[in-house]
Amino acid sequence: PTAPVNVVVTGAAGQIGYALLFRIASGQLLGPDTPVRLRLLEIPQGVKAAEGVALELQDSAFPLLAGVDITDDATKAFDGANVGLLVGARPRTKGMERGDLLEANGGIFAPQGRAINAGAADDIRILVVGNPANTNALIASSAAPDVPAERFTAMTRLDHNRAVGQLAAKLEVPVTEIHKLTIWGNHSATQYPDLYNAEVNGKSAAEQVDEAWLRDEFIPRVAKRGAEIIEVRGGSSVASAANAAIDHVYDWVNGTPEGDWVSAAIPSDGSYGVPEGIISSFPVTSENGAWKIVQGLDINDFSRERIDASAKELVEERDAVKALGLL
Ligand code: NAI
Repeated sequence: PTAPVNVVVTGAAGQIGYALLFRIASGQLLGPDTPVRLRLLEIPQGVKAAEGVALELQDSAFPLLAGVDITDDATKAFDGANVGLLVGARPRTKGMERGDLLEANGGIFAPQGRAINAGAADDIRILVVGNPANTNALIASSAAPDVPAERFTAMTRLDHNRAVGQLAAKLEVPVTEIHKLTIWGNHSATQYPDLYNAEVNGKSAAEQVDEAWLRDEFIPRVAKRGAEIIEVRGGSSVASAANAAIDHVYDWVNGTPEGDWVSAAIPSDGSYGVPEGIISSFPVTSENGAWKIVQGLDINDFSRERIDASAKELVEERDAVKALGLL
């Protein structure tokens, strides 16, 4: 029997945590042959609710669930951790400036990065979900100098899946016919969902839709889908966000299908003119447990402008957290 993999979920008592934990425990994060031990990290006020979730995990009698630990101490949570899903974050409240938001989140992600650096297992893989996800991942990574930077990633898979869903609905094809779609840049309104390199039924996606739809409907709809969900559902995206986190880690660990790619925010190596070091979304494949940026794609002028604009926003966020002494 394989030893259980230690999976840390921060913000475990929150909404996404509730949608995520049962799927992890059922084997959907790592696969049906891998037992997991869950580590739930919460702030002190969240610990009791996390204990309640743990009772329900027990009541689910998951064969793959080797145990559940609950703590408000990041050092304990990340000791020996193999996978970290960093979901808990400080949301933007009314009247909060971007600088305040970044600073408040620095107060969460820097200590968690230090705890990861101090005690995580050698194969630690981090996915940051809590917003601003890309820059929170950069803060955590920079607080963990002994962990390879490529182990810190941020989630744009929800944006990717939203884009696939929109295109499938538009062309009335199953989602399985859609390949090679890319989200570039920041998990924010500047993100760029790219259909110029995407394929539907093996043919260019951009050529199967009219340009006005692509530019004036599709792109803003994907980028603002979070707001649409809040308006229609009366609450933010939760189950779809948890689903995307599962997809991201599953593909990272188990590999992406031959001949296709997905989107994930990973540290830039300068590819496609995205400044080195920022954690930006790219077209990526995973092989042997490591993400690789897909090379050699054609970038037209329209795409160039949008990729640059989102990268510029990420550079500004990086410079702002640097000025706060968080990098
Ligand atoms: P929530 O408010 O229901 O849950 C957040 C939980 O985090 C709370 O239980 C809170 O006690 C906990 N928490 C706060 N600070 C913590 C800390 N320092 N350590 C451990 N736990 C802490 O929020 P929800 O709906 O679960 O969303 C979580 C985050 O995910 C938000 O930042 C949200 O903006 C983000 N998000 C990101 C998406 C993406 O595509 N990247 C999509 C949807 C949400």
